[in-house]
Amino acid sequence: LSTSTGGRGVRVGLVGVGNNASALVQGVFHYRTAAGAAAVASGRHGLRFPVLCGYAVGEVEFSCAFDVDERKIDLDLGEAIFSEPNRYPVVTGPMETGVVVSRAPVLDGVPAFLDDLVLVAAGHRGRDRNGDDFDRCIEVVASTETEVLVNFLPSGSNDATDFFARVAAAAGAAYVNCTPTPAVHSDPVADLFLDAGVPLLGDDLESHFGSSLVHRTLLEALEQRGLEITHSYQVNLGGNTDFKNLFHRPGAKRASKRSALSTVSSADAVEVIPSAGYLSGLGDNKVGYISVEGVGWLGMPVSIDVKLKVQDSSNAAGVVIDLVRLAGAARERGLAGCVPLSYYFKNPAGEKLSTADALAQIERFDRGDES
Ligand SMILES: NC(=O)c1ccc[n+]([C@@H]2O[C@H](COP(=O)([O-])OP(=O)(O)OC[C@H]3O[C@@H](n4cnc5c(N)ncnc54)[C@H](O)[C@@H]3O)[C@@H](O)[C@H]2O)c1
Repeated sequence: LSTSTGGRGVRVGLVGVGNNASALVQGVFHYRTAAGAAAVASGRHGLRFPVLCGYAVGEVEFSCAFDVDERKIDLDLGEAIFSEPNRYPVVTGPMETGVVVSRAPVLDGVPAFLDDLVLVAAGHRGRDRNGDDFDRCIEVVASTETEVLVNFLPSGSNDATDFFARVAAAAGAAYVNCTPTPAVHSDPVADLFLDAGVPLLGDDLESHFGSSLVHRTLLEALEQRGLEITHSYQVNLGGNTDFKNLFHRPGAKRASKRSALSTVSSADAVEVIPSAGYLSGLGDNKVGYISVEGVGWLGMPVSIDVKLKVQDSSNAAGVVIDLVRLAGAARERGLAGCVPLSYYFKNPAGEKLSTADALAQIERFDRGDES
């Protein structure tokens, strides 16, 4: 199993070696195996784009990684992804990537309610952002020739998200903001990337096949048939670290989940709870309950109830694998500042498009047309 693409691929750095990182790293290495390649060839592979902007999935290469948990720092990335409190299943087993996880400043990444899950050494708690950390992190990203830095920080880590945006811009790397903290929707951050001449992608992943997609698809179907949506809600439960985090810090996620549904005219009739609770027994699974009530001909009722159960971090990796290739291509094409990619984000730069229009936008980008 090769952990290198021999220099052909996109060089990707990870900020936060949690469950999403585990799913992404294991997936990239799986798709490089004979079994993975055979799955791709057969068309039954779980990928939206086996090749995107000229890059195959296996042509994504990991170049650096940052975390704050003592059980992950200084380990090879291929080992750190299996450390506690990560709950994503072990599919490939430990591997040597040659990337050693670097220490990051904690900032607001580990609030007190995560103390029982994330292990931060006493000397590193509550440290403010300082110049030494900043220069050291830029040096790591620049010296590893990282082209795309992926923000996998816990939701609500506003300071840490901003810190690593500045690191990416200073090191000349594109930044993919997977979290709901505004980056493309923050003028100072967007201007930073415009000035640095590198692309910025965000905000907040829209999962590969998650509650937002299923919910929006149902609402769009009712509206297309002329039915009136009277009330609808979405409630989510999960057992990974991010669900505990979201339970306590739901603000930005609630706003971006509402943005993901903004393509329907009845969006005001919809209520969303990003995390109704943390159930550790669910592990990295997420359960979403979606309910839609409407009226049709002569005001007669229509009612739909859906229970969606998914592996939460596969749902993220299935999207990030496309985003790192799009970000690599955008950087190579010299695009600076926010890149509108509605298909992959709940709260994208530009307008949130219907699912069909958003897919057409990606297909145009893939052909080299960024309009
Ligand atoms: N389907 C999905 O899983 C999905 C969908 C949309 C958005 N997202 C977003 O992706 C992000 C990552 O999700 P996850 O499940 O991997 O989270 P996670 O909690 O499993 O991982 C976060 C990692 O960040 C580390 N960390 C904390 N503070 C840090 C700091 N200051 N610097 C560096 N590392 C730090 C933690 O130790 C942990 O390893 C979240 O913001 C989540 O909302 C995920």
